[in-house]
Amino acid sequence: MENSVALVTGANKGIGKQIAGQLAGAGLTVYVGSRDAARGQQAVTEIGGGARLLVLDVTDAAGIDAAARQVSTLDILINNAGVSGDGKTADREDLSTFRRIYETNVFGAVAVTNAFVPALRRSAHPRIVNISSGTGSLTWATGPQFPHRGSYAAYRSSKTALNALTVFYAHALAADGIKVNALAPGLRRTGLNATAAASDGDPAEAAAGAVRLALLPDDGPSGEFFSWDGTPVPW
Ligand SMILES: NC(=O)c1ccc[n+]([C@@H]2O[C@H](COP(=O)([O-])OP(=O)(O)OC[C@H]3O[C@@H](n4cnc5c(N)ncnc54)[C@H](OP(=O)(O)O)[C@@H]3O)[C@@H](O)[C@H]2O)c1
Repeated sequence: MENSVALVTGANKGIGKQIAGQLAGAGLTVYVGSRDAARGQQAVTEIGGGARLLVLDVTDAAGIDAAARQVSTLDILINNAGVSGDGKTADREDLSTFRRIYETNVFGAVAVTNAFVPALRRSAHPRIVNISSGTGSLTWATGPQFPHRGSYAAYRSSKTALNALTVFYAHALAADGIKVNALAPGLRRTGLNATAAASDGDPAEAAAGAVRLALLPDDGPSGEFFSWDGTPVPW
């Protein structure tokens, strides 16, 4: 594990920074993905240890290619970068908001994953963790217990799409030994949106769930959806 290399996208703050910090604390070399170099360098300095800055805007194709050229072998990719929205139902939401959110949460994850798959194939124990959301679970959305009936439609449907891609990548990359799983981090106190900012959920607790999936043994699961505490989440 000491020689392992990880990349966490959107790691300059929030849950991603906690994931990067925990992986660095476990002795890994961790690329702290940040679209802003100064914010990323600040996080690298605060994390210390094996943290390294990787300037990476997941919506910038040329920037993704440039970042991928800097990493020859990658053991762990955490697709964490994400943006939320204003909570609107689909009928009231602008198409431009759908496009903006999908650009980061869905197309960004695809672009980064595809760019780094060659480096992951050079790893002995490659893992991908997609930071999803329990709000993207269609089973929960259609059940009686879910409080958000129809709200945050753009954000939540982007996470449902990310869940589908988790399954499809897991199947497509199984022959390469690359395990791909999705995490529902739970509501955490971050700058993602007003609901998250007002919560008392500890981002470090969510990060621990991502680290568990990042360090899965070779007989561990792939193509599955887990809550931060390791319990399965229904699709
Ligand atoms: N907090 C929660 O309650 C919660 C619940 C469920 C799921 N999640 C998921 O957890 C993940 C992390 O969110 P968070 O709560 O930690 O929110 P956050 O504090 O707002 O962090 C989001 C991170 O993503 C980065 N980012 C946004 N767009 C990017 C882009 N185009 N390229 C690269 N980085 C980009 C942000 O960078 P900048 O600083 O440059 O904006 C920031 O580092 C997200 O995928 C989110 O959907 C969070």
